Amino acid sequence: MKRAKVSVIGAGQVGGIVAFQLAQKELADVVLVDIVEGMPQGKALDMSQTSGVEHFDAKVTGTNNYADIKDSDIVVITAGVARKPGMTREDLLKINADIVKKAAESVKLYAPEAIIISVTNPLDIMTQLVYKTTGFKKNKVLGMAGVLDSARFALFIAEELKVSIKDIFPMLLGSHGDTMVPLPRYTTVSGIPLTELLPAEKIAKLSERARNGGAEIVALLKTGSAYFAPGSSAVAMVESILKDQKRILPSCVYLEGEYGIKGVFIGVPVKIGKDGVEQIVELKLNAEELALLKKSAEAVAKGVTELGL
Ligand code: NAI
Ligand code: 2OP
Repeated sequence: MKRAKVSVIGAGQVGGIVAFQLAQKELADVVLVDIVEGMPQGKALDMSQTSGVEHFDAKVTGTNNYADIKDSDIVVITAGVARKPGMTREDLLKINADIVKKAAESVKLYAPEAIIISVTNPLDIMTQLVYKTTGFKKNKVLGMAGVLDSARFALFIAEELKVSIKDIFPMLLGSHGDTMVPLPRYTTVSGIPLTELLPAEKIAKLSERARNGGAEIVALLKTGSAYFAPGSSAVAMVESILKDQKRILPSCVYLEGEYGIKGVFIGVPVKIGKDGVEQIVELKLNAEELALLKKSAEAVAKGVTELGL
């Protein structure tokens, strides 16, 4: 049987982790694409050489030629500029839109059957740009953010409760930005709702830290943004598609009336399998949660309008 092919456009920090994990887990042969000459080739060769130590059978190649993504099963788009201290995700809008548009056009040309996972920020708007540019069906375009944001929320909860992170099942909706909506009512610790384990003020603090999770790391790193957890998060989505796991992961997808929201990409729980988005799970939100989700969708819609999409 042929091994799957996953192309990663943008061989920077996040792209490098995605490629490395995909290869180490033997999920796919990987093509790393970047505009910087020699860099994707160098990273690919270095990663390939770890197979002599880790003993995995996956091929990693680096290229500056978009044509090499031909017939990919999945394409992960991480190309762009990372957020610097003081820069909001929205500041990145114009710069990254040009880069992502080019990447999406290339996927349409060379890998028209691929499922796309978009990572570049501002995430929700860039995912909508990919959808618009490719004209792919809505089940084939997903954005990665919810897996990362909920992983951060899970870590902070596990640390607060001093329990294993393995028992935390976080849930979080909305845009990958200041309007993100952590959902304590739907977050459980071994089946126990978080709201029964921590007081509201403590939960509000943990939610706020999750909301600022990206900025917290930017402030520490100073020269770039997070990449280990973002890379792992994108790989979890790729794995669910390639193995048809049908995991329910918070992902940025196109809503057409679900949650009363229409025509916008936003984070909601999604069943992810071989066809990409296989089901959008509609939680029974209370009025406050729904209002926050709608506010988040409005923020995305504003960016989408700014881009003229
Ligand atoms: P990075 O700067 O390390 O890598 C970006 C790479 O894209 C660079 O190597 C650059 O040469 C390349 N690139 C630029 N234009 C290109 C083009 N036209 N074609 C191919 N490659 C091109 O940045 P990093 O840290 O890897 O982050 C990448 C993106 O992911 C950023 O926009 C960042 O904000 C976003 N991000 C999103 C997250 C999320 O949760 N959705 C989490 C972490 C990062
Ligand atoms: C993050 O949340 C920068 O969006 C990126 O780490």
